[in-house]
Amino acid sequence: MAGFPGVKVAPFTYVSHVLAVASAAMVLVWCIHFRGGLAFESTNKSLIFNIHPVLMLIGFIIVGSEAIMSYKTLPLSHEVNKVIHLTLHAIALVLGAVGIYAAFKFHNESGIDNLYSLHSWVGLGTICLYGIQWIFGFVTFFFPGASPTLRGKSLPWHVLFGLFVYILAIATAELGFLEKLTFLESSGLYKYSSESFLVNFTALVVIFLGASVVISAIAPAHVDAPQGYSSISEN
Ligand code: HEM
Ligand code: HEM
Repeated sequence: MAGFPGVKVAPFTYVSHVLAVASAAMVLVWCIHFRGGLAFESTNKSLIFNIHPVLMLIGFIIVGSEAIMSYKTLPLSHEVNKVIHLTLHAIALVLGAVGIYAAFKFHNESGIDNLYSLHSWVGLGTICLYGIQWIFGFVTFFFPGASPTLRGKSLPWHVLFGLFVYILAIATAELGFLEKLTFLESSGLYKYSSESFLVNFTALVVIFLGASVVISAIAPAHVDAPQGYSSISEN
């Protein structure tokens, strides 16, 4: 996409990588150190739940972020980048689906109702739209591939809808962090504890990650004609 001429993309992709690593480390410290670890099978059902934030953040959002930025970050041919873009999005989708399965498994084995919250509704909608976006992208740009005219016409919609779904994923994760921390605080966790700060700061880092990924996508790949500051002429 060639919006915002003069904005250099590289600093935003570097910042995104740093924020991705930071948020991944933070969610792991939270779920492993503070919440007791991760398990698919356990009598301690909270360990099953812990898989959910870890896979939704690292698997779905961070792998999805790298997929979106791949055209800008990798010095490879367009055809190779396309395969990397669609493969990373497929991995994000699968890890996201497993992460949601873990949330359902935790609810079912703990006798808790399913799909009662705004977080769960927006989350399920997001992953469904992500799947639809992937299928449309694959059929239009990869196999069998639409005509060059249709591809050209579809691309801005692909980018727009892709960013919309990505922002929805970020918003869902924010609702998830808020909801889980509220549950923990209402069952006794001190509101100014180091764990509470860690969860809130993780959610903040995820907001900045989302912003820098979106800017990376809408900034042009090359700044052909650098546009320096020039004062408004006085006639
Ligand atoms: C884009 C990322 C995410 C998506 C798509 C997503 C989706 C979902 C879905 C569909 C459920 C419903 C499961 C059920 O009803 O059995 C759920 C539950 C839950 N999720 Fe997430 N989630 C995401 C990220 C997170 C994160 C980062 C947290 C942080 C802890 C979180 C916390 C929760 C909690 C506490 C529940 C159980 C309560 C509820 O159903 O609302 N989620 N999630
Ligand atoms: C849920 C899955 C997907 C999402 C969220 C998504 C999102 C995006 C976004 C945001 C961009 C803009 C990147 C930029 O301009 O820097 C983009 C570009 C593109 N995507 Fe996807 N995409 C998805 C799946 C696919 C698939 C399966 C294909 C099939 C090959 C595909 C092909 C492309 C192509 C050809 C471009 C244009 C790259 C260019 O500017 O030359 N996408 N996608």
